[in-house]
Amino acid sequence: MTMISDRLLRSLRERVPGMGLTREFYTDADIFALDLERIFYRDWLFVAHSAELPEAGSYLTLQIGAYPIVLTRAADGLIRGFINSCRHRGARVCPDAAGTAARLVCPYHQWTYRLDGRLFAAPQMGSEFDRSRLGLKPVHCEAVAGYVFVCLAEEAPDFGPVRGHLEPYLLPHRLSEARVAFHSTIIEEGNWKLVWENNRECYHCAGNHPELARTYPDTPTITSVTGAADDPRIAEHWRRCESAALASEFKLSADGQMRTARMPLLEPAVSYTMTGRPAVKRALSDSIPRDLNIGALLLFHYPTTWNHFLGDHAISFRVLPLGPTRTELTTKWLVHRDAVEGVDYDVDELTRVWIATNEQDRRIVRENQIGMNCPTYEPGPLSNVTEDGVRQFIDWYCSRLEQRLSPDVLREAS
Ligand code: FES
Ligand SMILES: [Fe+2]
Repeated sequence: MTMISDRLLRSLRERVPGMGLTREFYTDADIFALDLERIFYRDWLFVAHSAELPEAGSYLTLQIGAYPIVLTRAADGLIRGFINSCRHRGARVCPDAAGTAARLVCPYHQWTYRLDGRLFAAPQMGSEFDRSRLGLKPVHCEAVAGYVFVCLAEEAPDFGPVRGHLEPYLLPHRLSEARVAFHSTIIEEGNWKLVWENNRECYHCAGNHPELARTYPDTPTITSVTGAADDPRIAEHWRRCESAALASEFKLSADGQMRTARMPLLEPAVSYTMTGRPAVKRALSDSIPRDLNIGALLLFHYPTTWNHFLGDHAISFRVLPLGPTRTELTTKWLVHRDAVEGVDYDVDELTRVWIATNEQDRRIVRENQIGMNCPTYEPGPLSNVTEDGVRQFIDWYCSRLEQRLSPDVLREAS
């Protein structure tokens, strides 16, 4: 890896700011492996909602690169994360996407684990067998305001700044008391960074997203990462929301990894529906005044999630890389836990705009990847009017990778 680290470090240092990255960043298997190893295997990653683990015995699974993960909620109420690989001969302990179980039983030879990871039983292993050191391997796991994060690193970065940033914005939405009404998973035939770059600008919205464009403004001060505070319409929106104790101002973390901002929709729209009217009769949170149009609270946390929190529902997106040119995108629609399907909302109406938008973005990303695969591809200039968000993502990615590659190269040189 040191050779590639060295080469990559040089190209990161020589890159031209304000331009896209070179082709290898979107196609090269070695760079993809480094993206996993230095970013996905080291950072805190949003993976699930605590509402998806509603009771003792709930579990859910996911795959992050080479790591199969299982999340559980035990009788003590805590959500924990483990490597989903049996301590006997390594089989996946929970093959299902989600479920409820009193204990986790490996299907291969029935080694049985408690929900806190301890090995409970291992048949026919003899009287000398010591179970105590063969629990499931834990991963760092934190829940904040209904959002569950894991970190696969041996030593995790301090989670305090993530918690401190998110709580004031998210807590009023009471997402830990919500319910996932619908979820969809699609495979994007593009590098994970292309999925993000496409998400970080709305330059393409007017030409590609007719459904979303009915309610979501493509104004750069709303969709980008600069100038929001200078836009009087946004400032007025923040003033109104903050007077109802809703943190709203644009906030970007010092390292550029996480952003929150509450933005107005195209009024009078209050939700991402074809009419702009709420998709759910029951408000998502009982703590937010019903007559206040709170627009959309926007959150991103690189490298796995962007989100929209509305008055009637919330939508989360989870990005997981599958290969140099393949990415999984999972979208979840959250509603008040007591909202009843068919009475308070219609699933088609709730999901129509973002199902259509995701499909349009899937095609955009695929076409983008095909064009970039060509050996003649060279990065073009980014718009300084509409693509500040793309520049910000690329800057974050490059500085993060550079930070995490430098020790290798320095070690090699010494
Ligand atoms: S691999 Fe799990 S019990 Fe054997
Ligand atoms: Fe899009």
